[in-house]
Amino acid sequence: MKLDVSSGSLANLDTPLLVLPWCQGDDDAAERSGADLEALDQALGLMLTRAVTGGDFRARRGELSLLYRHGDGGPDRVLLIGTGKRADLDAERLREVGGRAARRAGELRITELTLAMLPAWLGGSVDLEAAARALVEGAVLGGWRFDELRSEPAEDDHRPPLSGLTLHLPQSKGKSAALRAGEVGRVAAGAQNYARELAVRPSNIVTPRYLAEEARRLGDAHGMRVTVLDRAAMKQDGMEAILAVAAGSEEEPRFIAMEYGADAEAGPLVLVGKGVTFDSGGLSLKTPQSMETMKSDMSGAAAVLGALKAIAELELSVRVVGLIPTVENMPSGGALRPGDVIGSRSRKTIEVVNTDAEGRMILADALSYAARYEPQAMVDIATLTGACVVALGHQVTGLMGNDEALIEEIRQVGERAGERVWPLPLWDEYRDLLKSEIADIKNAGGRAAGTITAAMFLREFVGSVPWAHLDIAGTAWADKAGPYQPVGPTGVGVRLFTEWVRGRIR
Ligand code: BES
Ligand code: MN
Ligand code: ZN
Repeated sequence: MKLDVSSGSLANLDTPLLVLPWCQGDDDAAERSGADLEALDQALGLMLTRAVTGGDFRARRGELSLLYRHGDGGPDRVLLIGTGKRADLDAERLREVGGRAARRAGELRITELTLAMLPAWLGGSVDLEAAARALVEGAVLGGWRFDELRSEPAEDDHRPPLSGLTLHLPQSKGKSAALRAGEVGRVAAGAQNYARELAVRPSNIVTPRYLAEEARRLGDAHGMRVTVLDRAAMKQDGMEAILAVAAGSEEEPRFIAMEYGADAEAGPLVLVGKGVTFDSGGLSLKTPQSMETMKSDMSGAAAVLGALKAIAELELSVRVVGLIPTVENMPSGGALRPGDVIGSRSRKTIEVVNTDAEGRMILADALSYAARYEPQAMVDIATLTGACVVALGHQVTGLMGNDEALIEEIRQVGERAGERVWPLPLWDEYRDLLKSEIADIKNAGGRAAGTITAAMFLREFVGSVPWAHLDIAGTAWADKAGPYQPVGPTGVGVRLFTEWVRGRIR
């Protein structure tokens, strides 16, 4: 999709679809249009005034109203999109506007649209750059769908993809800033769609070997160094916990390391993503219903791949390492048994009380491997615990770690990126829940504080690196569609990581 920025009078715009985000006034009605829209209103035969002042369009959040051109000049169609009250306007609401605009354009079979940054955006609570970025992100995310596995297009899949998006400013001031910010949004949201794609493809396609090939392909395209360890190389390196989980599957496990950026004095930022390509639970088998979306148990890995794609496309001058332990968790005759005690890369012994707590085991070896890079900071991302869905629901990602400053940094980055994260405590008392009678640690601590005990387990393998952990079990998959999110994988983490790395540029 091509991105442009234009400025000048809206009345003369030559576009098949002009989108106007519109705020609601204090009286529950749409705000009156200002002098800047008078010429457009004339071109529309005063339809704007009639829609707004007549009360047909009230600019409630998500409300749409489509108007058609009256005379010769100007846009063919004008789409009003309500944002709700001006006081509540934020980047997220503009992201929603972008998503709704792209959706509606698709239904109208329109491939090019102009998004006016007026009248809703007036330089209030959202600055120009944040507004531009959010609008573009919404449009790119809202236009995404997955149809590569259908033999015939589904009913609503005749919609053409957006090929051009123009942001329109009232004056030429700020055009280049808007374009730059919009480009960041375009790249980040495009990479998020790429992560969605990896997560939606089923486990008979996306295997650990597939993820390794994908990493190689991405590395080749962007000049990243990619190292892939196979079973033998992992054994050499002592990754006993990953190999133990992989033992129950016919699929070969892989360990992927991707390095972006030139050597620098400061250590790299390390991203670690859980890459379980299917989680049956192993011998601690899941129920059919809880297995249904477990093809997406590699959403953490997808987020790391997506983030590296965005970081490379934006050519950010920061050293970043992506690590992905990837396996399939299956219950064959060779599978890990509940009660088994296994080793790990860090030499700590683990009593496996539940083979469905496999994510923390593969992450344990990856976190221990990361020490070799002497990271400035490390963040892992994983669909780790059902308990996180209970605690925080589907809107918010769980945040934990061993470094208060990093935790607060990640919380703020999430806010800025429009991906909310919220902290849970890792107090020492929780460690008791993982005490084993016969080994150094148990891999599961029972029902109480399940998200926290999973993170406590990970912490044992981190060492002294500043580390944060994101539990995306509730946020990686949407059961309900949103304004820029269809039912399915969300690609959560990509925007947050991109924003984090951007903020670390010195
Ligand atoms: N992949 C699951 C967690 C999960 C659950 C992700 C629901 C997305 C939606 C993870 O491997 C798992 O099975 N965790 C167990 C841990 C338990 C055995 C201690 C869980 O949450 O039940
Ligand atoms: Mn599991
Ligand atoms: Zn899992």
